[in-house]
Amino acid sequence: MPATFSASPVAKAKAQDLTCDLDLSREGMLELLDLTHKVKISPARYAQALSGRYLSLLFEKPSLRTRLTFELAIKQLGGDSVCSIGPIGDREPLKDIARNLDRWTNGIVARTFSQKTVDDLAHWSKVPVINALTDLYHPCQALADVFTMEEKFGSLKGKKLAFIGDGNNVAHSLMLCASRLGMDFSLAHPNGYPANPKIIQQAEIFAADNHSSVLITGDPAEAVAGAHGVYTDVWASMGQESEAGQRRLDFQPYQVNEALMAKALPDAVFLHCLPAKRGEETTDAVMESPQSVVFDQAENRLHVQKALLLMLLS
Ligand code: CP
Ligand code: NVA
Repeated sequence: MPATFSASPVAKAKAQDLTCDLDLSREGMLELLDLTHKVKISPARYAQALSGRYLSLLFEKPSLRTRLTFELAIKQLGGDSVCSIGPIGDREPLKDIARNLDRWTNGIVARTFSQKTVDDLAHWSKVPVINALTDLYHPCQALADVFTMEEKFGSLKGKKLAFIGDGNNVAHSLMLCASRLGMDFSLAHPNGYPANPKIIQQAEIFAADNHSSVLITGDPAEAVAGAHGVYTDVWASMGQESEAGQRRLDFQPYQVNEALMAKALPDAVFLHCLPAKRGEETTDAVMESPQSVVFDQAENRLHVQKALLLMLLS
């Protein structure tokens, strides 16, 4: 099945990358969601689809879900992976690393501090590079999240997703994905913790094209009004540990608790990318409530990434 990706800024003769959400066109995203449903329903059908294919996994930051689901995804498609943990580019230039990995393996999955590291890997590598989380984006997460909402609500068009908390990597990817798919998106964040203005502007353009909306507010109640999904993430992301104390104070009014969930639609679901800090951005009661779909999201990371690997590595 051919991947429908938008033109990369760096034209070159190789399969496309997923360096950020923008590498995937709306059609590509729909195709990916459709393929994910098929892969989830009939895993045996794809058990040898990537036989003899290998992935390089590079992780500068910790991971449970992303690393293990990529390892499982490639194995369940008949291939395998190798993993390197630690800083990328300290011991030798990044351009040399990329040109080692593309001789040995068919794709590179990288979790890095800087988005530039993933962009540079994609520039130098002849095999597809997949963003497994950077300071700016977490595209694989957002794709699993919209897939999870589609499973719960059917069509995504006209559904509203509210993100409460930091204008961070997860918020960025979600606003791009949701607006592309015709969902209304709202973000409520405290003063001083905004989303990237260029990414908001891009999401607003997608929303205008798809007859949906993007709302940025300081008021969590306004953000969750009419929401089908209420999403939150940690207040201090990986690399921001030294700010955790100040952030705990600044984000307190932005906790997603039962009182805030009650202001969303009655059948709204609660989403979190995990890992979660119960008692901070959300509560044990919300995490364990019937509204919580956090473990469905985690499961769907596997299915979405299998579909992504099929599209990029086939
Ligand atoms: N949600 C997510 O990316 O989890 P990990 O950090 O464990 O990979
Ligand atoms: N925003 C979080 C997401 C973790 C999956 C972080 O970057 O640490």
